[in-house]
Amino acid sequence: MERISQQTIDEILNAADIVDIVGEYVQLHPAGKNFKGLCPFHNEKTPSFFVSPEKHIFNCFGCGEKGNALAFLQKYKNLSFVEALKILADKYHIPLAMDFKNDTDDKTKRLYEITEAALGYYTLSLTNLASGKPALEYLLARGLDIHTIQYFELGFAPSDFDSLYQVLKPKYQELDLLELGLIKKTTDGSYYDLFRNRIIFPIRNEFGKVVGYSGRLYEEKKDEPKYINSPFTSIFTKGDVLYNLDRAQAAIKSKKRIILYEGFMDVIASVKAGLKEAVASMGTALTSEQARLIKKYTNRVILCYDGDQAGFEAMGKAVPILEKADLEVSLLVLPEELDPDEYTKKYSFFQYAAFVEANQIDKYEFRYRYMKKHTDFTKAAEIERFKIAMFTYLLREASGTVTEIYLAHLAHDALVSLETVQADFTSFQISQSLSRQMADKRVKIANVVMLNKYYKAELILISYYLHCREYREIIHNTITPMFCEDALNSQIMICIDELVLSAADIDIVTIIPTKFSEKQDQVRLVLSYKTGEYSVQELNECIDTIKIRNIRNIIHDLKKQQTLVNQNTDMPEYLRIQNEIIAQKQKEELINGKSRNHQKTD
Ligand code: UTP
Ligand code: MN
Repeated sequence: MERISQQTIDEILNAADIVDIVGEYVQLHPAGKNFKGLCPFHNEKTPSFFVSPEKHIFNCFGCGEKGNALAFLQKYKNLSFVEALKILADKYHIPLAMDFKNDTDDKTKRLYEITEAALGYYTLSLTNLASGKPALEYLLARGLDIHTIQYFELGFAPSDFDSLYQVLKPKYQELDLLELGLIKKTTDGSYYDLFRNRIIFPIRNEFGKVVGYSGRLYEEKKDEPKYINSPFTSIFTKGDVLYNLDRAQAAIKSKKRIILYEGFMDVIASVKAGLKEAVASMGTALTSEQARLIKKYTNRVILCYDGDQAGFEAMGKAVPILEKADLEVSLLVLPEELDPDEYTKKYSFFQYAAFVEANQIDKYEFRYRYMKKHTDFTKAAEIERFKIAMFTYLLREASGTVTEIYLAHLAHDALVSLETVQADFTSFQISQSLSRQMADKRVKIANVVMLNKYYKAELILISYYLHCREYREIIHNTITPMFCEDALNSQIMICIDELVLSAADIDIVTIIPTKFSEKQDQVRLVLSYKTGEYSVQELNECIDTIKIRNIRNIIHDLKKQQTLVNQNTDMPEYLRIQNEIIAQKQKEELINGKSRNHQKTD
């Protein structure tokens, strides 16, 4: 027979808002923590029908009817359990997952019974067994009071070989215990407990079911991991669960956010500081499933991993995972490499809560700080690396406004002018868009680097041509305005020529881009490439660069011609071309030598 899975039923009941559901049929009025109205199940003139949003139930003190949202719908609309469930599933957009085998459900139920029983044993052991005393003392010494220990249901797994096995064996099936990983079998057929001599943190899923445990050392032991976790089972995948999500739900709803931590102790510290919307990914490897879980309950997440290097790096990786789940992310970086638990110890719970409210940063600032931390600002090469990394990030992730803010930070930190950084950013943008174009045309990227020098010279010359009438003559006489090889650049030159002739005093810089429909942005970049002063020297250098390019083009053509000449039959022609190549090379040498002299004398 087809059945709705227990997991789905839990999910539906969890999502159902009793006030919302009853409120559709009964007029409700606030009454303290509860709501009241006239009972729909018996005749009355004064309200004795109460709805408790906290307990998720209704209760009529007149006729005694009571129950949860499902029971209300069944009774009110005279529906079967499944019919009522379907209405709720529909209302809260939860797909009705069917189980075709009853076995699965029965087994899951059995496993949950065991995990709950084992937890009972662990919690009792911590407070009631003599052997649990050092563990309890460790927790108390770390500042946890007995109330907190009970609230988080912390437990203790005794150090005996098989104490849990002995307790559970009479009541439960061996296979189930093995499947949960709570016990293990040795080669000689005896059993032993997985968790021994450790503090136990129970891990409940979002519906409050115990799905696994984590066991922590309470004494320093070099060759053992600090925490060991339940293995992967049919009810537990570590990456599918968020620690404390079951208990955090009310706070998440009222605060409209989740604070995501690394570990158990962080969550505990956060709750004690009054920030109950706290969950943990249980390590730094956040999964997309965990991100999806967060999104089920809220749109906003504050990411707060440890303030050390590992935490920093993990936050950088977690941001895109959270954003992919459509979550709005802010980050919290704790000072002095502290984790939240340590922070509350060093300062106070009160100061921690205040710190959280005052120090959330966005992903841009986080990225900037992160990269800055790894940069030695006394070394130019490191600044350059930092700059390129930040440029790459801004170009990919940030709007114009955000970009400008961080270019200003960069200028400030690198002790250079904002104009310089802006100019570098513009040329970075151009080179990126150029290499994208090249990639489109399937030209090898290596060519872009070659091209860059000439391309840059074209951009600078365009700027001289545009802004300095006095130099236009030189360009005309030495290389002609048709010096551009880049198609867009030559179109821009033609456009400048036309506008300069037709109108004198108009703002050519604003008009030109409008002539290039879909390439406007790129044209604007080209026109704004050059910043800083105009000088004859810079102009001459660019002209020389273009001249050298022309010469190289000529040499290239000559060499091509030469290969077509047969040396045996037409030696004179071969030599003539050879001489011309040499002459061109001398020209190039001359220009190079001249510019070397320029540099020496300056
Ligand atoms: P931490 O090492 O930061 O632990 O690991 P913690 O929660 O701050 O605990 P204390 O303060 O040292 O007692 C963060 C989380 O990573 C997971 C645990 O869920 C832990 O809470 N973890 C850590 C493991 O699963 N295994 C490990 O060996 C270590
Ligand atoms: Mn920690």
